[in-house]
Amino acid sequence: MVTEKAAGEVEAQVPSGWRLVRFDTVDSTNEQARRLIAGGAEHGTVVVADVQTGGRGRHGRKWTSPRGNLHCSIIVHPHRPQREVPQLSLLTGVAVAEALASVAPHSVFRAKWPNDILCRGRKLCGILLENAEPSVIVGIGVDVASAPGGEVLYPTTSLAEEGCRAGVEEVLAAICQRMDRWLRRWEADGFEPIRSAWLERAGGIGEPVVVRTEDRDPLRGTLVGLDTDGALLIQEAVDGPPRRILAGDVHLVRSL
Ligand code: BTN
Repeated sequence: MVTEKAAGEVEAQVPSGWRLVRFDTVDSTNEQARRLIAGGAEHGTVVVADVQTGGRGRHGRKWTSPRGNLHCSIIVHPHRPQREVPQLSLLTGVAVAEALASVAPHSVFRAKWPNDILCRGRKLCGILLENAEPSVIVGIGVDVASAPGGEVLYPTTSLAEEGCRAGVEEVLAAICQRMDRWLRRWEADGFEPIRSAWLERAGGIGEPVVVRTEDRDPLRGTLVGLDTDGALLIQEAVDGPPRRILAGDVHLVRSL
């Protein structure tokens, strides 16, 4: 997956037909990808930067982006109906979890809806999808060398802290390869294979959760699983059908 460059440097290899565009420093790779789309960039363009000065997370949060961690954005043209595009979020979670497992085989990575990846209950990857119709920008941040310090909303870790020596290039190559593979699978077979792969890696099924959405009070219940379209299913009371959640932040009451 990784080819030798001059003087022992390594450069990530991307799947055939994909293109890697590198920067030392950008505001946000998602923003840079948006600028490249305006200039005609196509499916499979991967923007990667060593440092982001304005890295962003979900719900307008800041994403701390020091040198040594992976900050990348992949431009995707989904070949699925528009209503299915939110499934790309879970697809990316599966692809990244598999990629991390391939570079750190002794660690266990768990998916938390919609697309966080945790190790020992600590977050080490965040995914931010942004619409740039007809493209989607898939922004991925992996704490490879260090986890953000200071005030964070949740416990964090990094691949290095988990004893994994893989570098940014190796992680990037593994992610691009899995993304390409899962995008083709989605195109050919729809969401079901992604749903079952996600459920295999999901943490907290059958356990208590609190879900925070923008438009209502926190919802407390038991995590049941995923609906056939990717909505999260939460059982609020013993009787009655589970509630479908399409957007929100999930907090697992017990850690993974
Ligand atoms: C989250 O968990 O809140 C999502 C974090 C997403 C961070 C990545 S880093 C690469 C890309 N560029 C950004 O500005 N954000 C995403």
